[in-house]
Amino acid sequence: MTTEKGSFITIEGIDGCGKSTQAAELCTWLESALGSGKVLRTFEPGGWSGGALLRQLLLDGMALTSRTELLLFLADRSGHLDSEVLPALNRGQWVVCERYTDSTLAYQSWGRGIAAEEIEGLLAWCRFPVPDMTIFLDVDEETARSRLSARRKLDRMESEGEAGFAARVVLGYRELARRHPGRIVVVDAAADVRRVAEQVRGHVERHRLERYRGER
Ligand code: TYD
Repeated sequence: MTTEKGSFITIEGIDGCGKSTQAAELCTWLESALGSGKVLRTFEPGGWSGGALLRQLLLDGMALTSRTELLLFLADRSGHLDSEVLPALNRGQWVVCERYTDSTLAYQSWGRGIAAEEIEGLLAWCRFPVPDMTIFLDVDEETARSRLSARRKLDRMESEGEAGFAARVVLGYRELARRHPGRIVVVDAAADVRRVAEQVRGHVERHRLERYRGER
């Protein structure tokens, strides 16, 4: 019998796209398919022991320059990878991570205006591994904003007042999906939650079967 190797799956999209709900659904289903203890659900920013401080710095409303913000997201990722993601992958677990490098490109480049090549250079220098698969939950900014404002008080990034910020981030994600069609799958996240979950599951199941075949 072949033991399956783990896989690194990231979930991306603008605030209000339904990431957390879909990550939870996916992890429940994956655990039932793979066995208990085989899946690590995690997130950025902040999904590690030192992450709460960085998350607070990033999201609690303090004004930060774009460069400081970028470096804090990268520092958070570095700690998160070293202490959570890489050890889990090395143990053979599947890792489902809400937000990763595509967030940095979509928000800090398309959103904030830092050149994408500069960010890509930093990501390469950090040697952050490329995910095996990325699910982009595509939703327009109006739908996302109405979901968010129905929910709770917005954090610093979510309440980004500048006109068009979220719209630029969506464009960034769509462009990234166009550039990396083999890795990023686009799911229409304006559909109802169950329908979105089914599509996500379908994509991950195909990925799992391909991986399994590749290992035989
Ligand atoms: P998130 O954890 O998705 O917020 P919440 O849990 O409140 O839904 O993300 C926090 C914010 O950080 C979000 O607006 C996107 C932003 N972000 C970046 O700008 N760059 C990054 O590299 C990451 C990981 C997140």
